[in-house]
Amino acid sequence: MREGTATLIRREDYQAPAFWIRTVDLTFDLDPAKTLVTARMQVERNTAVAHSALRLHGEELNLLRVLINGESVSFRQEGHELIIDNAPDADFALELRNTCAPEKNTTLSGLYTSGGSFFTQCEAEGFRRITYFLDRPDVMAIYTVTLRADKSKYPVLLSNGNLLESGDLEEAGNKARHFAKWHDPFPKPSYLFALVAGDLVAREQRVKTRAGKEHLLQVYVRRGDLEKTEHAMNSLIASMVWDEARFKLPLDLDRFMVVGVSDFNMGAMENKGLNIFNTSALLASPATATDQDFSRIESIVAHEYFHNWTGNRVTCRDWFQLSLKEGLTVFRDQEFSMDMAGSPSARAVCRIADVRQLRAAQFPEDSGAMAHPVRPDSYSEINNFYTATVYDKGSEVVRMYQTLVGRAGFEKGMSLYFERHDGQAVTCDDFAQAIADANPGSALSVRLDAFKRWYSQAGTPRVQARGVYDAAAQTYTLTLTQHNPATPGQDQKLPQVIPVALGLLSQEGQVLPLQLQGATEVLNEQVLVLEEAQQSYVFIHVTSEPVPSLLRGFSAPVVLDDGLSDAQLLVLLQHDVDAFNRWEAGQRLALNRILGAVRSGTPLQLDAAYLDAVRKVLRHPELDAAFKEITLTLPGETYIAEQLDVVDPQAIHAAVEAAQVQMAAALRDDWTAAFEANQIKTGYTPDPVSSGRRALANLALAMLVLDARSTGDTVWPGRAYQRFKDAGNMTERLGALSALVAAHADLAEPALARFHELFKDDALVIDKWFALQGRTPELAGEKSGRTFARVRQLMQHPDFTLKNPNRARSLIFSLCMFNPAAFHRADAAGYVFWAEQVLALDAINPQVASRLARVMDRWNVLAEPYRSAALLAIRRVSAKPDLSPDVREIISRALA
Ligand code: PHE
Ligand code: ZN
Repeated sequence: MREGTATLIRREDYQAPAFWIRTVDLTFDLDPAKTLVTARMQVERNTAVAHSALRLHGEELNLLRVLINGESVSFRQEGHELIIDNAPDADFALELRNTCAPEKNTTLSGLYTSGGSFFTQCEAEGFRRITYFLDRPDVMAIYTVTLRADKSKYPVLLSNGNLLESGDLEEAGNKARHFAKWHDPFPKPSYLFALVAGDLVAREQRVKTRAGKEHLLQVYVRRGDLEKTEHAMNSLIASMVWDEARFKLPLDLDRFMVVGVSDFNMGAMENKGLNIFNTSALLASPATATDQDFSRIESIVAHEYFHNWTGNRVTCRDWFQLSLKEGLTVFRDQEFSMDMAGSPSARAVCRIADVRQLRAAQFPEDSGAMAHPVRPDSYSEINNFYTATVYDKGSEVVRMYQTLVGRAGFEKGMSLYFERHDGQAVTCDDFAQAIADANPGSALSVRLDAFKRWYSQAGTPRVQARGVYDAAAQTYTLTLTQHNPATPGQDQKLPQVIPVALGLLSQEGQVLPLQLQGATEVLNEQVLVLEEAQQSYVFIHVTSEPVPSLLRGFSAPVVLDDGLSDAQLLVLLQHDVDAFNRWEAGQRLALNRILGAVRSGTPLQLDAAYLDAVRKVLRHPELDAAFKEITLTLPGETYIAEQLDVVDPQAIHAAVEAAQVQMAAALRDDWTAAFEANQIKTGYTPDPVSSGRRALANLALAMLVLDARSTGDTVWPGRAYQRFKDAGNMTERLGALSALVAAHADLAEPALARFHELFKDDALVIDKWFALQGRTPELAGEKSGRTFARVRQLMQHPDFTLKNPNRARSLIFSLCMFNPAAFHRADAAGYVFWAEQVLALDAINPQVASRLARVMDRWNVLAEPYRSAALLAIRRVSAKPDLSPDVREIISRALA
């Protein structure tokens, strides 16, 4: 049932719960059509708040009975609440009985079936779809769970914590049912509850923590998938080792389980001791997964594991604090991935990939209809706030703490955080206070209140940097100015605390020593803390006019305007010791050219200086392949769009396509050399060096096949096809296939057909097949519109379904979210398609639908005719009276 009007929930309205639930004893009689749930709870009135009724949340449930201390009691049901007006003042036992219908549950929230097994997803508010409860994260209880089910269909019965007992059931007339009873010793909020029941098999490993305690690790999947779990298991072990070494945080349970499911709304979920994963974030083999998949799996396994402390042992008081666990845990998984990568250059490549992701997803969010602070002030549907801002900007905020107090200081702060708050449900303020208190007198602690504006102000701050060199005085005066643009509901902003890491280079690229006027220290690199609207810094003993390298390592999530000339950017690209800024200089050079063409409406023409510079990178004897690949990859079209006040997606795409074609032609021999030099003859391993080499070989091949389209050459398409056929791993196979498909080569068709035939039984690979086609760039000129036509056609493919989120995303999101030029069409057909799919998905799975709805966040900055056509499509969706609250919130914000 859908509510007509959505209610807005405000952070300032937070109130502690009127009751605590201390223990929960749950019994499930599992049946796909009708599962019976019995809940026995110890409830206690919270005397700290005003006396009021007991209001339990429940959705889509069939209530059978309510007992207090064993006796029936009067209650009311209003909307999604079960209300008991006269609950006792003394502690009492509450017993509830209800049923739910897992196989009818297509929302994938609560208890549902997938592939004949049972799974749960309770974050954020799914537990109320299982039984009536105080379904809020500040109510923490100790759970004991008994599962009963048909033994042959569901031989494996799992829940959080430790297995107490299991065995066969002897029930009259009921053949072959069995049970398992689980107990989780740690009090937890309901969103961390999980159960799994099905025909699964496990990879197992026993490991010891530093203290010598033994643990059992298990990765459960469907029977045929066991060989694809080795990488996940290795990632899990590496995560355990890392968290103990870096933060002294050990595994606290005897048993840690990870389960894969193919129907899942997100990447994975950190349920206590029983993580549940989208198979796309868990399963990998060299033949079916790419290097990117391997590294994504490593980081998601780590992310969920790290939540055991940051999220589970210390959880969120309310959902406005979501970034408390998510920003911090993303930060931790990013640090882990960097430490795993090893070399400084591989670390930089990780950082660059994270920043690229931030700019592609979070920056547009921060400048669109859904802009919100890291700690939002209000929401109507919390599921809409699992955003790039909460996750990725949240992680940047945590990174700034570390920058301001130092790595050791941050680790001290983390220890204090756990010392103070273990077992509690807390706020972002508590975290900030712990880090500050552990580092008295630090750059953070002396301006903590101002720093916390990162939690309350939405929008990406703009920082302008201008330097003046005085040759006579040998001083360099750097003036930094900040400005934070208005966002919905926030017109005026206060200055933020922005750590700016910098170094100075000579015109020849030598490091210049840094000495601030009045300071005695001489450094090679320094962190300035910008906290006023404008501040100037004078560096002394600067012997020649410097080239500033600012915001090194992307020391703050801001947009920097450093006013550097092409000549200065070329110095940085060639010589900066900071690999991030080296990459950034290359991106800026490309961006300047693309933006120049788009703004002036003239065709893009790459100049010799630029081409020479990128050739130097490609030919460089010392740079890693991974760094070359990431530096030669042009900025994404969404990021380019971010730089413009009025966005014409077709003009952007035309400029990017021209840049690619020209780079392909001008560097033909260099691409050939890079391709040849990066062939790996030994067996597949997904380590950073080999995957960097494969990435560069794939980029080179794509360039060579693209160039063949212009020259009419048939050799490179032929080689690509051959490589596609013979590839020993998915990275090379998909790379070759995508080179053919992206260039719209004739051999693309037979290759796609062959790929489908080869992998038709592997859903995750078929997802790649759909995604590749949905993401295929449209060609300028007469062949334009092919991708869009193909996507429409693929919607009818027998393998396509809206019901599986991975599959829906693979085709629809690929087009609408990741292929701007195919989506934003002058004839509005893309928008019509979008509206149709949002509505179709909303009837099945509101969370997936509302994610798709967000594609129109920035309709307002589109050029005509796109803007008006987009608005019409949004209005068409809005006109549907029974939209889910999820989609309704997104659409209303877009129209606000
Ligand atoms: N908490 C999960 C994570 O980030 C994400 C998630 C949210 C999964 C909501 C499912 C539902 O690790
Ligand atoms: Zn998370």
